[in-house]
Amino acid sequence: MEKLQIAIEKARASRLAQRGQTDATGGQTSPEEAVSRHRDQGDAWAALREVSLQPKTLEKSRVIAYHSGALSTYYDILRTRLRDEVKRRGFRRIAVTSTGPGAGKSTTLANLSLSFGRMPLYRTMVLDFDLRRPSLHRLLGLEPKSDMGAVLRGEVPFDEHILRYGENVAFGLNAAPVPQSSELLQSERTHDFLSAVDDVYHPDLTLFDMPPFLAADDTQGFLSSIDGVLLVVESGKTTRQQLDSVEQKLSELTTVVGVVLNKCPFPDESDAGSYGYEYGY
Ligand SMILES: Nc1ncnc2c1ncn2[C@@H]1O[C@H](COP(=O)(O)OP(=O)(O)OP(=O)(O)O)[C@@H](O)[C@H]1O
Ligand SMILES: [Mg+2]
Repeated sequence: MEKLQIAIEKARASRLAQRGQTDATGGQTSPEEAVSRHRDQGDAWAALREVSLQPKTLEKSRVIAYHSGALSTYYDILRTRLRDEVKRRGFRRIAVTSTGPGAGKSTTLANLSLSFGRMPLYRTMVLDFDLRRPSLHRLLGLEPKSDMGAVLRGEVPFDEHILRYGENVAFGLNAAPVPQSSELLQSERTHDFLSAVDDVYHPDLTLFDMPPFLAADDTQGFLSSIDGVLLVVESGKTTRQQLDSVEQKLSELTTVVGVVLNKCPFPDESDAGSYGYEYGY
C-alpha cells in the first residue's frame, strides 16, 4: 500500500479511535486518496512537478521576494520572525487572514512563500484555501489544471496537482472558485488529508491563504485544523475597532502569531517601508 494511503488511514483510524469507533471501511481507502506514491519524503518532494516563475509577471502583482534585495528585506524579516515563532511554539500550520477583503493577504503570502524559498532546507507548503476568491495562481503567474477542491474531495491525487518551486516550496493552487468551500474545509476528510500530507511530506511549515475572517465562515470553521493565524491589516482601511474585535475573537479560538500592517505609507522614500509594508508582533 502506498505511503500516503497508509497515512490517510492512520489519520482516520486515530480520529475514530479517539471517539471509540471502528473504521467502517475496514481500512480500505480509494486510490484517489493517495497523496504520494513515494516512500521517502525527499523523493516525494522531488517527484512534485517543478515550475519556474517569471519575474515580470511576479512584479506586476507586487511579488518581489523571489530574490533578495532592499524591497524583499521586510518580507525576509517577517519570514524569519514567523519561522522562529512557529518553531518556539512547536507550530506547523499557519493560516493567513484579515478582517475584511483586499488587505493584501495573498500578496503577503506569495512574497512570504518566495522568501521561504530562499531559506535552504526549510520546506514550506503553501495551500490556497481561499476557495471563494482564489488568487495565488494569478499572482504567481501559474495556471493549475485543477483545484484544491478536487484534491480535497479525492478526485485528483495531491501529488499530481501540487507544483514545486525550487527544492523546498510547494504550491497547492486553484484554477477557479470551489463550491461549498466552508463545508469542504470543515470536513473530516480534509482533516485526515492534512494529517496525511504532514506524515508524507513533513513540511516545516504549511501556510494557508484564507478568506477574510468577517466575510464568510470558512476561516473560523478551519481554525481547528491549524495551529495559529497571521493577521494582515490594511493600513488606513482596517479600523481599530475591527482589528480589536477580530483579534479578540481569533485569540479565543487560536493563537495569533503575528499582525502584518500592510500598505502602510511611509513619508521617507529612503525607508524600505515606502513599499508599504510593515509588520508587528
Ligand atoms: N504592500 C502593498 N502595497 C500596495 N498594494 C498592495 C500591497 N499588498 C497588496 N496590495 C494590493 O492590494 C490589492 C489586494 O491584494 P490581495 O489580493 O493580496 O489582497 P487579499 O487580502 O488577498 O484580497 P482578498 O480578500 O480578495 O483575498 C491588490 O491590488 C494588491 O496588489
Ligand atoms: Mg486573497
